[in-house]
Amino acid sequence: MKKVSIIALSFFMSAGCVTAGVLQCLYHGWEYGSGGHLVRVPSALPGVPVPPTGHLPVCHAVERYGLVWVCLGEPMADVPCIPQDSDPAFRRINNPVEHWTASATRLTDNFMDITHFPFVHTGTFGRAQDTVVPRFDVVELDHGWCGYSYEVDVNNPDSARSISGQSDAVLHRKMSSGFTLPFAVRSTIEYETGLEHILLLLSTPIDDVNAYFTFVVWRNDDFSVSAEEVIAFDRMIGAEDKRMLEQVSGVLPLTQTGVVSVQSDKASVEWRRQFAKLLGVR
Ligand SMILES: [Fe+2]
Repeated sequence: MKKVSIIALSFFMSAGCVTAGVLQCLYHGWEYGSGGHLVRVPSALPGVPVPPTGHLPVCHAVERYGLVWVCLGEPMADVPCIPQDSDPAFRRINNPVEHWTASATRLTDNFMDITHFPFVHTGTFGRAQDTVVPRFDVVELDHGWCGYSYEVDVNNPDSARSISGQSDAVLHRKMSSGFTLPFAVRSTIEYETGLEHILLLLSTPIDDVNAYFTFVVWRNDDFSVSAEEVIAFDRMIGAEDKRMLEQVSGVLPLTQTGVVSVQSDKASVEWRRQFAKLLGVR
């Protein structure tokens, strides 16, 4: 991640416009060049220099996967790797950013968890009759992702059939769930037909009990299903998670003593362990 020219830190900047590399503030028209330097104040008399304290603070940012990734400090790692983004067999579908009234820790824990499928996702793909999760190990997956692989049968309702490309009532999936610190989760789905559906689930804390959420999808399909239709089903699934998580108050404790965990929580436990270590929490 390299330091780029200007990061807008206020509404007036983010709503401004860029012309020939110069960002103009929406409010008073002040103009900023590379590195956040104030280069022109339209109201100033000719020959009056710009105020030296008018320059903008800057931070590290990079554009990838249709998103702007910002680091307010010094980056400790690159943006999470999704190699399918440069694979012409895959298309990428971006989604709007949503506000969830839940902590980013709870979102991340949820996205690493599969034991809630038969309870939270019965309106979409979850099978109420399949509640047992086989033992699994948390391992280094590919491309820097840490997590686990598993296989699962899922319901394939009418609303999912164009997305799955199959008409059977129940489908078999190979899946994996992996994380990179701090709050990125990758969920991979592979159907027996070879169709792959990859989700990058991203949570950004607003405060302890609010978060922004967005997700990006990559699919190696034949593009016959519209992006809107693909996203509609995934958003139904996300709405099931949101409805549940917004009923759970507070921040997910990062220490092992503050929460009861079972064998199938191993991946979340490992994420919490690594995240606590990153924060220096004991
Ligand atoms: Fe879920």
